[in-house]
Amino acid sequence: MTTLTDTPLAPLLDRLFDEADSTSAAVIPAMAELSSEERSRLMQSKTDYRAFYGHLKDLPLAVSRETGLLLYMLARGSHAQTIVEFGTSFGISTLHLAAALRDNGGGRLITTEFEPTKVMRARGNLVAGGLADLVEIREGDALQTLATDLPECIDLLLLDGAKALYPEILHLLENRLRPGAYIVADNADYSPEYLAYVRAPANGYLSTPFGEDVELSMRAR
Ligand SMILES: C[S@@+](CC[C@H](N)C(=O)[O-])C[C@H]1O[C@@H](n2cnc3c(N)ncnc32)[C@H](O)[C@@H]1O
Repeated sequence: MTTLTDTPLAPLLDRLFDEADSTSAAVIPAMAELSSEERSRLMQSKTDYRAFYGHLKDLPLAVSRETGLLLYMLARGSHAQTIVEFGTSFGISTLHLAAALRDNGGGRLITTEFEPTKVMRARGNLVAGGLADLVEIREGDALQTLATDLPECIDLLLLDGAKALYPEILHLLENRLRPGAYIVADNADYSPEYLAYVRAPANGYLSTPFGEDVELSMRAR
């Protein structure tokens, strides 16, 4: 058995994914009024992301079940000890990553979220999953919270906050990524700048689209 497939985490994740499946941005009045073009523009904005995610503060916006499993397998298979996550929300991806740390014998996960109610929900879920001791949630904008007090060496990075900030967040952490570190970027299609950067071999990554909506990259040197 693994922490991911055992009690209490497995039934907790089932419940959280079921809740995530039953919610949609379309039920939020401020979102329903937007055209798909305007929603896409906001998803790619480097300036309007705070208000955009503020409208979505009651939604989990979680990774898919498949991406969650992928995160566990990458972290577990690479014996990750130190993980950084951009975009906590209710902590569904965080639970997968922390489960891998537990099965690796321990470690440290730093995750960051600017919506205070989401931070509270994520904390509750981490306690319910028995994984809170492995996770530090930094409340605030990742551009600030991930700018200081970082571990020397990072084994895995999940990018799942405002898509337009993926290049900036990667640059904050880049010199700490160990050779062989994985970077998982969810919905990276919304950041062509990020995709161009990690796909250019001169920048020191190997990178490939993976599954429906993930860019999987590895720090090559
Ligand atoms: C797609 S959701 C994350 C889902 C989460 N990774 C999961 O799978 O459970 C993105 C989250 O990032 C947060 N966020 C977006 N930009 C942020 C920023 N610059 N700093 C901190 N949090 C941010 C949003 O409030 C939102 O909760």
